[in-house]
Amino acid sequence: MTATLIDGKAIAQQIRDEIRDTVSRQTQQGQRPPGLAVILVGSNHASTVYVGHKRRACEEVGFHSEAHNLDADISEAELLALIDKLNHDSTIDGILVQLPLPDHIDTETVIEKILPSKDVDGFHPYNVGRLAVRLPLLRSCTPYGVIHLLDSIGEVYKGRNAVVVGASNIVGRPMSLELLLAGATVTVCHRFTSDLEAHVRRADILVVAVGKPGIVAGEWIKPGATVIDVGINRTEDGKLTGDVDFEAARERAAYITPVPGGVGPMTVAILLKNTLEAAKLHQQASS
Ligand code: GUN
Repeated sequence: MTATLIDGKAIAQQIRDEIRDTVSRQTQQGQRPPGLAVILVGSNHASTVYVGHKRRACEEVGFHSEAHNLDADISEAELLALIDKLNHDSTIDGILVQLPLPDHIDTETVIEKILPSKDVDGFHPYNVGRLAVRLPLLRSCTPYGVIHLLDSIGEVYKGRNAVVVGASNIVGRPMSLELLLAGATVTVCHRFTSDLEAHVRRADILVVAVGKPGIVAGEWIKPGATVIDVGINRTEDGKLTGDVDFEAARERAAYITPVPGGVGPMTVAILLKNTLEAAKLHQQASS
């Protein structure tokens, strides 16, 4: 069997086109455009690239976009004061603080400072908690993007084993909550898991988000499985590669995401979707 590729780039573009049409319709009716503030602290290369993508995507769909580029040595108090100002700014619906932050700033304190209704990353404990109790509001971008990819191939969740490899706050944990919400039987593997191979071999739906190329061998894939590779790693010759041994996995899976062009484009598309949703929440609250 050679797996069908899941084209995240095309699915993300479709979402972006729909958002652009919605914003165009709403602004023609006199509504203000959704507003997103993107905060970058320091000049980490990967973060600068990601933030550039997010800002450009906002402009392309007609959002109001604000860039806040802060020095790496800004104090935590100054960053919190900026978030407070944006929390009270009625032209801003979403606040995104690009992670990772410098070591002298406490990430959790910063995330919790963001008003939950402006938390378009879905990282605030309020939004993670809502997902955990089956009342999702603003949902973490990458895991929710993966759900869109799975839905696009008509994935069946109920009665199927979903295995998530990686338990980070950004991907693994909210991913497991998304799959549980969808009805799958979920296992989360992490650095203390004793037999990763045994878990992966049972997975009907496999989501890998570790950041280590080749952590999942292709021969471990259950024949007919759906494989979602969230990893984005750069090889020594400068190419992008995922966490799964793609070529071998492709011969066993039914569906698989490529890297690049699989999960990556979905994160930005869902960020836009969340910002549109946050704008709707703010509109409803003020009318
Ligand atoms: N760093 C890596 N991924 C993300 C993300 O989705 N959002 C933010 N804010 N920072 C990140």
